[in-house]
Amino acid sequence: MSAVIEERRGRIALLKLNNPPVNGLGWPVREGLDAAIVRLKDDPEVDGVVVTGDGRMFCAGADIREFGTTPPEHVRRLPEILDDLEALDKPVVAAVHGVAAGGGLELALGCHHRVCGPKTKLGLPEVTLGILPGAGGTQRLPRVAGVGKALEMIVSGRLVSEKEAAKAGIVDELVEGDVEAVIDAAVKKAEALAAAGEPPRRSGERTDGLQEAKDNPGLFDEFRKSMAKRARGMNAPYACVRCVEAAATMALAEGLKFERAEFMKLVNEVEAKSMRHAFFAEREVAKVPDVPADTPTRPIQNAGVIGCGTMGGGIAMVFANAGIPVTVVEAEQAALDAGLEKIRGNYAATVSKGRLSQEEMDKRMGLITGVTDLVELAATDIVIEAVFENMDVKKELFAKLDSVCKPGAILATNTSTLDVNEIASATSRPADVIGTHFFSPANVMRLLENVRGEQTSAEIIATVMKLSKTLGKVGVLVGVCHGFVGNRMLHQYLREAMFLIEEGALPQDVDRVIYEFGLPMGPFAMCDLAGNDVGWRVRQEQIKNNGGKPTNARYSGTVADKICEMGRFGQKTGKGWFSYENGRTPMPDPEIEAIIKETSAELGIERREISDQEILERCLYPLVNEGAKILDEGIAMRASDVDVVWMHGYGFPRHRGGPMFWADTVGLKTIAEAMQRFEKEHGPWMAPSPLLVRLADEGKGFGDL
Ligand code: CAA
Repeated sequence: MSAVIEERRGRIALLKLNNPPVNGLGWPVREGLDAAIVRLKDDPEVDGVVVTGDGRMFCAGADIREFGTTPPEHVRRLPEILDDLEALDKPVVAAVHGVAAGGGLELALGCHHRVCGPKTKLGLPEVTLGILPGAGGTQRLPRVAGVGKALEMIVSGRLVSEKEAAKAGIVDELVEGDVEAVIDAAVKKAEALAAAGEPPRRSGERTDGLQEAKDNPGLFDEFRKSMAKRARGMNAPYACVRCVEAAATMALAEGLKFERAEFMKLVNEVEAKSMRHAFFAEREVAKVPDVPADTPTRPIQNAGVIGCGTMGGGIAMVFANAGIPVTVVEAEQAALDAGLEKIRGNYAATVSKGRLSQEEMDKRMGLITGVTDLVELAATDIVIEAVFENMDVKKELFAKLDSVCKPGAILATNTSTLDVNEIASATSRPADVIGTHFFSPANVMRLLENVRGEQTSAEIIATVMKLSKTLGKVGVLVGVCHGFVGNRMLHQYLREAMFLIEEGALPQDVDRVIYEFGLPMGPFAMCDLAGNDVGWRVRQEQIKNNGGKPTNARYSGTVADKICEMGRFGQKTGKGWFSYENGRTPMPDPEIEAIIKETSAELGIERREISDQEILERCLYPLVNEGAKILDEGIAMRASDVDVVWMHGYGFPRHRGGPMFWADTVGLKTIAEAMQRFEKEHGPWMAPSPLLVRLADEGKGFGDL
């Protein structure tokens, strides 16, 4: 079957892109489109053309897999083909449905008129791939939708609804009904335009949308200022702005040339490669080699959550947000009431910010039922335990759940550190037990580490991975170990941050380097946000269990313990590593600086100048090294899964592709050698993992595994 199917509707030619699953504009599609344009141009039997996509969408743009490859010589580039499409003297109408993204929307903009069906998403998400719309999108969208709208859409990469697109003038006509109804409307429009005999309304020739930039030439600089924080360390967003600016100041042909040159500068850069990696990593993560796609799943029509503290309450909201009724259990009525009140308060805050309607809040609250007896969970499809992190407590609870819950119910634990196998052993059905590790705040963070125990069945894994998507989460399947993937790696990073301040850096130095690298905040601001008392309690417990001694030869908690003893728990107490007298902005505090310096002296460490590069390497290389150990142990299935954990759980910048991909771009030889040096200088905890050393010796990267 051809990649572009041609049909006739009377005297209108209908071109259907046919490249499942998303009608990507790979070279066979471009070849088909190109040939059709040449053929139809002078066909006396054809008065007009309708372009659409076969299957579930119009078109999701360039075939991302083709980036970096060379197509056969005779296949022309998309921008040239779209120029020819737009230049046709016969009316060309796009029948848009499902998705028109990237090159897909550029194709629609190359048409003279756009008809669009319901529930359609339109946009230019190229920036999320580290590139820019390279087939005329930066030139045609501002002409059609206005410079301001185009800048916002292109720089954010946001897909808009068909209604928003219609309001912005991107879509000319909205049609209710199925794809056939959209095609019928497009054909009628093409017939009417042909009958009217007027010259085609070419997007590239329009100037109405450019007026606002002529009236306010400072608009581009203002926009650059407004995006500076979000776009730090990236090139593509700025290139997008330059191109839209070119649209406002250059003739179309010149602007298109400028766009092409900017596109070519970006497409093979590390930023674009990292973001392409992120795109495919996020899709790969859902696939589990030993759990085939056709594995049966269990229906999840309701859920139970045990514990209505910060985590339990957040998890209950996640279910309610997805429209799944959820029963929350707390042993004491007072704790239950307080937990439910907190949930209500969270929703009310969203309502007051205008991001949720009161009606929707009421609907969601209506899906949450509070109870004080576990017996109420007898008919529940999945139960998620989110109680105090203590093995005895959890085992007792799971034994009870085993006797209460119906056969086939999924018994899940939100533990962040404990052994899921041991928890499962408290039940008579370990195959139905799994870990679902949400990240705080559970209703906001997208990461969900699904922890498979030794006996967890394929059916349960398939169900929970599917449920993750239903809940709007990115589910990553991991194995059992202390801290799983994310927190185990985080531990390395935090430890080195603590050592760095003992050796000469200050919290604000470490945080600045990490922020500039692209994470949303540095380790110290992160601890202040999470609450320093959490780590304090964990350290005390570890020391107690280790016969009163720290577990590492060099203790990293000396300063942290001191600040906790002072009650500086972080944002919630107004002071932590930083002071928060002016709200949520961390302000360096001379008191902390004094404590740090005093501690260095007590420990006999002579403080020294620490470079930004050392801060980066000391914090991130051990994190990568731990990722390598995790891979070696089979705790994560793929290096790209580790990247997804870090991008979605900790805000590791997408334009670096996640820690393992980033490590490949640095070079594993460099990292292995640095770890060997760190091991000599600091101690055995910095020893490079055997996998890291092996890959480095073989000249390979994690991507080669
Ligand atoms: N190229 C190649 N493969 C693509 C693709 C693309 N543009 N878009 C999606 N796919 C693949 C996915 O990798 C996935 O493959 P597997 O099943 O093998 O994993 C499959 O299509 C289905 O994709 P999703 O799972 O993402 O499906 P969805 O229904 O959840 O989402 C979508 C559909 C909204 C279109 C989403 O796939 C998406 O956002 N795609 C990317 C859109 C995009 O960024 N387009 C710009 C491309 S760059 C460009 O166009 C440059 C230019 O200027 C010409």
